Amino acid sequence: MPLVTARQLLDEAAKGGYGVGAFNVNNMEQIQAIMAAAVETKSPVIVQASRGARAYAEDRYLYHLMLAAAELHPEIPMSLHQDHGNSFDTCKSAIALGFTSVMMDGSLREDGKTPSTFEENVEVTRRVVDYAHERGVSVEGEIGVLGGVEDGHGAGGSGLEHVTDPDQAVEFAERTGVDSLAIAIGTSHGAYKFTKKPDGSVLKMDILIAIHKRLPHTHLVMHGSSSVPKDLQDIVNQYGGKLKPTWGVPIEEIQLGIRNGVRKVNVDTDSRLAITGAIRKVFAETPEKFDPRDYLKPARDAMKKVVQARMIQFGQAGHAGDYAPIPLTEMAKGYASGRLDTRPSVAAR
Ligand code: G3H
Ligand code: 13P
Ligand code: ZN
Repeated sequence: MPLVTARQLLDEAAKGGYGVGAFNVNNMEQIQAIMAAAVETKSPVIVQASRGARAYAEDRYLYHLMLAAAELHPEIPMSLHQDHGNSFDTCKSAIALGFTSVMMDGSLREDGKTPSTFEENVEVTRRVVDYAHERGVSVEGEIGVLGGVEDGHGAGGSGLEHVTDPDQAVEFAERTGVDSLAIAIGTSHGAYKFTKKPDGSVLKMDILIAIHKRLPHTHLVMHGSSSVPKDLQDIVNQYGGKLKPTWGVPIEEIQLGIRNGVRKVNVDTDSRLAITGAIRKVFAETPEKFDPRDYLKPARDAMKKVVQARMIQFGQAGHAGDYAPIPLTEMAKGYASGRLDTRPSVAAR
């Protein structure tokens, strides 16, 4: 199957009442792990690359690995998504490369650190929407700011410092026409999200529910959604790692989100933990080994296992065969005619 847009995957997920995991990749083994999990669970999937990933793998390598995945697994609808685009130019270059979906994270300025003003966010996101939709490509925006820092990206601090204001979310959706909207409800990027076992009140689910009620046509996105499982932390630490005690987002909270309009669920840290634990184990138990395949294969298997579990938990499993891909040219026509317009004043009619 050719790469499809995130908008199509998320429209289908909304119809089916499930969420779609968006998993970060930097290399071949991570792409293979995701594809193996998608094939086994028959899941549509979003594969996403941050700016750091694009720089690390180099654009052309990354893109061609994705094309290989699409060629080998025509039965899996998959979207290639730019994670946390920091500027119009980053999104434009992703589209030129062949990404079918981009995130314009205008909640932060171009430095990826400083929270922007609402007007700055609207302006840059609207510009990306105009450019992307003309080409049929989907756009995710962000309103409110997540906690934590990943690879230099992020405002830092706790996830509760810049929680999304529902009125602003509605105005943002109206003025930008984004296909999906990342909201800040108390999650953070990275492994250190919560310092004690979270109960049902750690995330601002009431805010999410309020936003979904007012924006039923804009797919909601949860970033920082790794669950940071204790067993994966333990493997890392058992074999010489030094992770401090930490808790991630409980799966039940994500599932509650999915019942209330969350369609895209971003996961990176869980994959990182799985890979690191598996590699540490091989190094510790068989220090005589030096063939990279001896540790990259278990690493790939460990990531596949966690991704597969998330695909089942988010509900996307079993939905790969539900639909045929819509080409970018058709998506572009849908935007031009207004049929795919998500702005509340238009979509409600
Ligand atoms: O949101 C951030 C993702 O986890 C990607 O992180 O920028 O270190 O590649 P990265
Ligand atoms: P985690 O750090 O919780 O995996 O979040 C990943 C993410 O939001 C990527 O955009
Ligand atoms: Zn994120």
